Amino acid sequence: MGEQSIQAQHLLGIRNLSAEDIGLIFETADQFKEVLARPIKKVPSLRDITIANVFFENSTRTRLSFELAEKRLSADVINFSASSSSVKKGETLLDTVNNILAMKVDMVVMRHPSPGAPHFLARHIDAAVVNAGDGTHEHPTQALLDAYSIREKLGDVAGRKVLISGDIMHSRVALSNILCLRKLGAEVGVCGPPTLLPKYVSELGVKVWYELREALAWCDVINVLRIQLERQHFRYFPSLREYSLYYGLTKTLLDSLDKEIVVMHPGPINRGVELSSDVADSGQSIILKQVENGLAIRMAVLYLLAIRRTAAKAG
Ligand code: NCD
Repeated sequence: MGEQSIQAQHLLGIRNLSAEDIGLIFETADQFKEVLARPIKKVPSLRDITIANVFFENSTRTRLSFELAEKRLSADVINFSASSSSVKKGETLLDTVNNILAMKVDMVVMRHPSPGAPHFLARHIDAAVVNAGDGTHEHPTQALLDAYSIREKLGDVAGRKVLISGDIMHSRVALSNILCLRKLGAEVGVCGPPTLLPKYVSELGVKVWYELREALAWCDVINVLRIQLERQHFRYFPSLREYSLYYGLTKTLLDSLDKEIVVMHPGPINRGVELSSDVADSGQSIILKQVENGLAIRMAVLYLLAIRRTAAKAG
C-alpha cells in the first residue's frame, strides 16, 4: 500500500470528506481489488487492530461486507446487534459503546436509526468511527462504492450524468450519493414523485425531474432506490402499484431510449416495484459489481483510518 495518509479521522459522512481523500480511498480500493482476485485473499494489514460492528438497525449486505472486509485485513472482529443486547434493558448509546471500548477496541462501525448518532459517538469516544448508515442522513461507504463502480464501468465519474430515482426524501444513500458524485465532478439529477423529493433538494446542486422518461433521456447512469416504507409515517403516494407504473424501471422503458445506460441499485431490491426483474438481471445492470466493489471500498476505508490512527498515537 502507498504511503499517503487520509485527512479524515473518522468516516462520518461524505460531507466532511475531501475529494483528495475520496481519490485516495479509490486508489487503495484498486489495490485491494487485486488482493481479492488472488487465491489467498487475506492480508495482515490490520493484525492487532480490533473492530466492533455495532448495529442498531437491521442489515444484511452492509454488515456482512464490513465483517468480511475486516477479516480479509486480519483484524479482530466483534459483532454487536441491538436486538440481542442491554440496549433493550435501557442502557444509553454512550454506555453501550464505552463498555465495548473498555475491551480495547480501536474502531467502531455503526449503523443507527438516528441521524447524527455516529457523529455524537465520534465526539465522545477514543476510537475511529465509521458510519454504516445513520437513519435518513448518510451512508458514506455506499456512496463511495457507487461512485467507484461508475468509475470502473465508465472510466471516470467527472462529467457523467447520474440520475438517482425513487424515495430521495427518506434515503441516506441518496444524500451521500449526491454529495459524493458532486465532489467528483459528476452532474446529478433526481427523479421521483414530488412528495418523495425534499423541498430543498435543488439547493444541493441537482437537477429535478418528476417524469422518469424525461430523466432517462438525460442520464448516462441511473441509481434506482427502494421505497423506504419503514421510514414513512404516512402515505406519500396512493399505492405501490401506481408508484411502479410511473417510476418503475422496465425493459420496455430502457429499450425505448436511443442509448444504453448503466443501471445501479444499492439493494435490497423490491423486484417489480422500482425495478423489473429483467432489468435487474440484465447486462446493463452492475448491481452485483457494486456488492463486489463494496468489499474493496470498505477494506480501503478501514485500512486508511486504522493506519492514520496508529500513526497519530505513535506520534
Ligand atoms: C441501503 C440502506 O440500508 O440504506 N441498503 C444498503 O445499505 N445496502 C438502502 C436501502 O435499504 O434501501
